[in-house]
Amino acid sequence: MSFAIGPIQIDGTAILAPLASVSDAPFRQICLEQGCALAVTEMVASEALVRNVGKIMDRMVRADGERVLVVQLFGADPGAMARAAAIAIERSGADVIDINMGCPVRKILGVGAGVALMREPDKAVAIVREVVRASGPAVPVTVKMRAGWDDASVNAEQMARRVQDAGAAAIALHARTKEQVHSGASRWEVIAAVKAAVRIPVIGNGGIRSAADAEAMMQRTGCDAVMIGRGALGNPWLFRSIALGREVQPTWQERFELIRRHLALHVAFAGDAAAAREMRKHLGWYLRGLPGSAMVRASLQRMNSADDVRATIEAFEQAVASGRARSSDRDFGGGPSA
Ligand SMILES: Cc1cc2nc3c(=O)[nH]c(=O)nc-3n(C[C@H](O)[C@H](O)[C@H](O)COP(=O)(O)O)c2cc1C
Repeated sequence: MSFAIGPIQIDGTAILAPLASVSDAPFRQICLEQGCALAVTEMVASEALVRNVGKIMDRMVRADGERVLVVQLFGADPGAMARAAAIAIERSGADVIDINMGCPVRKILGVGAGVALMREPDKAVAIVREVVRASGPAVPVTVKMRAGWDDASVNAEQMARRVQDAGAAAIALHARTKEQVHSGASRWEVIAAVKAAVRIPVIGNGGIRSAADAEAMMQRTGCDAVMIGRGALGNPWLFRSIALGREVQPTWQERFELIRRHLALHVAFAGDAAAAREMRKHLGWYLRGLPGSAMVRASLQRMNSADDVRATIEAFEQAVASGRARSSDRDFGGGPSA
């Protein structure tokens, strides 16, 4: 199955969601290698990009083999968003610009960005129009929005029509309101309503944890693709499951092999110490539920170098291989945070 974002053909239907501090180049590459059709960078502050703050460009590095680089921008000023889009295209070669209209974090809302834009449709439309103009015809612009602000103001359908008219090439819809943050029922009926309201592709998001979930969302809402956030943490095999249409369970050998590859990609990307720090959370997710993982989890925070990570993985792998790793209820702790 495939769909198109403006002039860009996308093969497959499962997309990695933008995830702050998670969907960096190494993790996107890991997911793409498992059959993910498209991956979105963590959000990038338009104002920081315009001012060229610190290591901001690191967030937009194309992963090896990443055919379509989707850079997500957030901000509340149409001019700054347009300049940021032009910089992302020129300096990182972004192929798609995604506009964040869904983030509920207070710091983002404080500047009028993220889901706050759903309460200011005129400003939201101005942002889309300016970013589309700055990006030009070869670089399509997408919008990631929520169902609405709260139960009394579910306005995704109207917003979707308006951003389409302003030139958006696709819409990703996290089918929860701002008030729901990341929990509570995902409102698939809103995805269906948005799909019926627009001509551009609609990407459904919220609560997909299995190939069966993905198929059900696509069938029941008619959406063109699904976007996966927390379901991919510690489980990039989910993309393979969706591509194959059946649940894939990696063997523990495959699991450890992939962890080692993820570590190696991270070391190449960010250096030894930063890779060790970043891999702490990923290991917590990768090992969740494995017999004896609760014991390993306690040592994760002490990993300060890639060698520490390798030693931790190796010791645990040997314990699993020899049957010495014992199950406990605590093995399921420390799951993906909301
Ligand atoms: C750790 C974390 C970081 C996130 N960062 C972003 C972000 O940078 N931009 C964005 O639009 N959404 C962000 N989100 C929201 C996700 O993209 C997604 O919409 C949400 O998690 C619902 O999908 P899920 O149920 O598959 O996780 C984040 C969510 C989580 C859990």
